[in-house]
Amino acid sequence: MNKPITVTAIVGSYRRGGIIDRAVDEILAAAREAGADTEKILLMDRRIEFCTNCRTCTQQAGAGRGACATVDDMGPILDRIEASDAIVLASPMNFGTVTAIMKRFIERLACYAYWPWGQPSPKMRNQLKGKRAVLVASSAAPALLARLLSKIVGSLKQAADVLGAKTIGVLFMGLAAQQPHQELGERTREKARKLGKKLASQRRKE
Ligand SMILES: Cc1cc2nc3c(=O)[nH]c(=O)nc-3n(C[C@H](O)[C@H](O)[C@H](O)COP(=O)(O)O)c2cc1C
Repeated sequence: MNKPITVTAIVGSYRRGGIIDRAVDEILAAAREAGADTEKILLMDRRIEFCTNCRTCTQQAGAGRGACATVDDMGPILDRIEASDAIVLASPMNFGTVTAIMKRFIERLACYAYWPWGQPSPKMRNQLKGKRAVLVASSAAPALLARLLSKIVGSLKQAADVLGAKTIGVLFMGLAAQQPHQELGERTREKARKLGKKLASQRRKE
């Protein structure tokens, strides 16, 4: 029997049951209904230290990620992502961009760059390719305005690129702070379910 498609969600919200958490649950539920094996990783439940710019990981040549000098939960999270067919990257907008914990996660992706001291810019390692990504973001401001004036989608997309994932959809939820525990609207739920199904529809290309 074929192994199920695996979908891993990385969630940078600080609120269980917040709008980001609910949207990710909806995406993953649809993916499971389509036969996928899913995992939701709430970054706030894991130990993720800052990238200290020691550059140990970036000095190491090779296609695989460089070994990070900091031993925490980042290694197992990246192992899971590498083994996944598809990913979801999700964050509320705080001060115009991703949350601090999502930014911590993103900075630790430096291990996917080969960047010896003295080189002006990094070379991204090309081992990871062929995954698909869905990006999820939310803002108190209306969606159109927030998307236009912020870099949140760009930051999440950059992280997806580094992880070898092509972005196939964005779920952006504006007016997300109308109530402390806001339900997803019907259109948002439908879009989330569509994206979940789409993620579960294709194995990653090697
Ligand atoms: C520290 C902080 C900064 C925020 N900055 C912004 C912002 O710049 N723009 C905006 O539209 N909403 C901002 N918000 C509102 C959040 O984006 C909104 O409450 C969130 O999307 C809800 O996601 P959650 O339910 O998963 O927590 C901010 C919220 C906090 C706590």
